[in-house]
Amino acid sequence: MMRVDLLSIFPDFFTSPLGEGIIRRARQAQIIDIAIHNIRDHAGDRHQMTDDRPYGGGEGMVMKPEPLAACLKAVPRRGRSRVILLSPRGVPFSQQQARLYADYDQLILVCGRYEGVDERFSSHHVDEECSIGDYVLSGGELAALVVIDAVCRLLPGALGCADSAERDSFSRSLLKHGQYTRPPVFEGLEVPAVLLSGDHLAIARHRFLESVRLTLARRPDLLSGLELSKAERALLAQEGLLAQVEQARQEQKQALEISA
Ligand SMILES: C[S@@+](CC[C@H](N)C(=O)[O-])C[C@H]1O[C@@H](n2cnc3c(N)ncnc32)[C@H](O)[C@@H]1O
Repeated sequence: MMRVDLLSIFPDFFTSPLGEGIIRRARQAQIIDIAIHNIRDHAGDRHQMTDDRPYGGGEGMVMKPEPLAACLKAVPRRGRSRVILLSPRGVPFSQQQARLYADYDQLILVCGRYEGVDERFSSHHVDEECSIGDYVLSGGELAALVVIDAVCRLLPGALGCADSAERDSFSRSLLKHGQYTRPPVFEGLEVPAVLLSGDHLAIARHRFLESVRLTLARRPDLLSGLELSKAERALLAQEGLLAQVEQARQEQKQALEISA
């Protein structure tokens, strides 16, 4: 069972998001065990101060290192564990990163607030910093929830359908194809006929081609990581898409070389 420990000054923040849907079921099925620790409980003074003014001046408050370090020290370690600070200056979170995290026995997620945490805590007690995107949130709690949700989906048994995480967007450097459910006609729009045909090979081909077209249109940068089988290459060539895919890969390669 994966263990996740959340360190926050707002422990109530997590109640609803961690008590619904896939995460709730995974907790009940003992696939993931999540514990929440209140950093304030580890503040030495009676006012439970966890922040203070920044040295050198400037706006806002900084999270003090001692309560953070004491709170982290109180977390029992399990197997391979990783201490991750949610931070806008961290490594960008991605499906690939989620897969790496899913391999740990324990993730310890530290949520910052205010202007962030004292540098001595982040540089000496944290294994890595993780950012969920190029924008600034008011606190690390939402970011930690994003990480937990993405990781939880990858844990064996967490999803109803055993392999549906493998077919999610990004798993194969492709965006997911469009999906349809009943009714067969909605506002005059029909479900693609092939999906009603019962021909599983034709359906798989249709979905693969849709995924490729969508990725070419919206996220051609992803295609550089796409590995194609011989049959897929042949199918793309037959549909006149292989040249576009190769060109997108070439352009991405050149862009990476220029930025390196
Ligand atoms: C207001 S932010 C601090 C921003 C900091 N002053 C800066 O400019 O980088 C407070 C906390 O929210 C969390 N946070 C904000 N944006 C985030 C992001 N994009 N990814 C992960 N955590 C984030 C971090 O834990 C951070 O310590």
